[in-house]
Amino acid sequence: MPLSFAPLMARFKASESTEAGARARALRAEGHHVVDFSIGEPDFPVPANVKEAIKQALDGDDTHYTNTGGTLELIDAVRAKLLRENGLEYGRDQIIIGSGAKSVMYHAFACTVGEGDEVIVPVPYWISYPNQVRIAGGTPVFVECGADGGFQLDVAAIEAAITPRTRWLVLNSPNNPTGAMLSDATLAELAEMLARHPHVLIMSDEIYEHLRYGGAVHRSIATLGEGIKARTLVVNGVSKSYAMTGLRIGYGAGPAELVKAMVKLQTQTTSCASSLGQAGAVAALNASHDDVAARRAVMAQRRDYLAQRLAGIPGLSVRAPEGSMYFFCDCRGLLGKTTPQGARLESDLDFVRYLLDQYKLVVIQGSAYGCPGFFRISFATSQENLEEGSARLRDACAALG
Ligand SMILES: Cc1ncc(COP(=O)(O)O)c(C=O)c1O
Repeated sequence: MPLSFAPLMARFKASESTEAGARARALRAEGHHVVDFSIGEPDFPVPANVKEAIKQALDGDDTHYTNTGGTLELIDAVRAKLLRENGLEYGRDQIIIGSGAKSVMYHAFACTVGEGDEVIVPVPYWISYPNQVRIAGGTPVFVECGADGGFQLDVAAIEAAITPRTRWLVLNSPNNPTGAMLSDATLAELAEMLARHPHVLIMSDEIYEHLRYGGAVHRSIATLGEGIKARTLVVNGVSKSYAMTGLRIGYGAGPAELVKAMVKLQTQTTSCASSLGQAGAVAALNASHDDVAARRAVMAQRRDYLAQRLAGIPGLSVRAPEGSMYFFCDCRGLLGKTTPQGARLESDLDFVRYLLDQYKLVVIQGSAYGCPGFFRISFATSQENLEEGSARLRDACAALG
């Protein structure tokens, strides 16, 4: 008998970026030399002090349930980090530790979004936002903030999308997939606009905070006054800054009432984040930032190299990202062209499939992020892969007629 599933399973899609990674692994298993530009995690090992802290935690049998909302050590390390790096002061009851930033965001939506509620998601967006909102029963409301504006947010368009049912506005800076960062001017404009709509909460996903280049400064919208801070859930974690993706530790900082509800929900979902991951995250956050700075320098070199390699490829339009680990390339100039195999490229997905089939190069179609006509390249990979992948991309574009 075929299995039947709950209605919610029809409301959302599996993550396209996770699927792209699976395709790359499958092709590799068939013996192909694949270049994977879809990777959504730094390719570094976790820092040595984090490894040491996890080993010590294991040897000390720190392998039991922790407090549902996180260990006091990690909550205090997060508070110290937010004060030191972001100028944001929070009490212990305003911090929640979860199993990755993704889980923190999901719990926040699940606690606050009911049937018919709306969440404003600027486009392009990280794939999980609209899907998490749908799983929670709400409706994502998309607002175009496209390439023509340098992927800065269109504050007037966001305001026009606000209704009495709006629960959240989602912000993500540095941004996945565009690499754009919210400028001080845009942040100020947003804060001024949001003051007119006090019922809207703000989810500020700052997971790529430490991956920024060329002197770009990261500022959290929560620093723009107590009024805004009281309505903002700052979401961050150790996945990207410390290459701790598999250890699954993220955190949220925001209103105590919201945090309390999220902790209540966690009592029935995850129970707590991994005890060993939390021990590692304490070490990561409390350490000096030498590792973070050294890794950022490597990522900056890769970004500069790729910017130069992509610049001259006919049909592509590319701007170097200010932050995160992605180039979001405009391939609209290639649509309508024909491959050597005789197929006409009608969409970004056709182009991405052509790269995969003919050049064994994995990138992700912009339509997965709500932005057709673009594709995303991750530069979280080795210099060798950047050289080989950019050469394949150049050849693939040159072969189009
Ligand atoms: C914008 C953004 N937010 C959050 C996450 C998830 O981070 P975590 O590993 O902490 O769940 C990712 C991971 O790809 C991301 O790109």
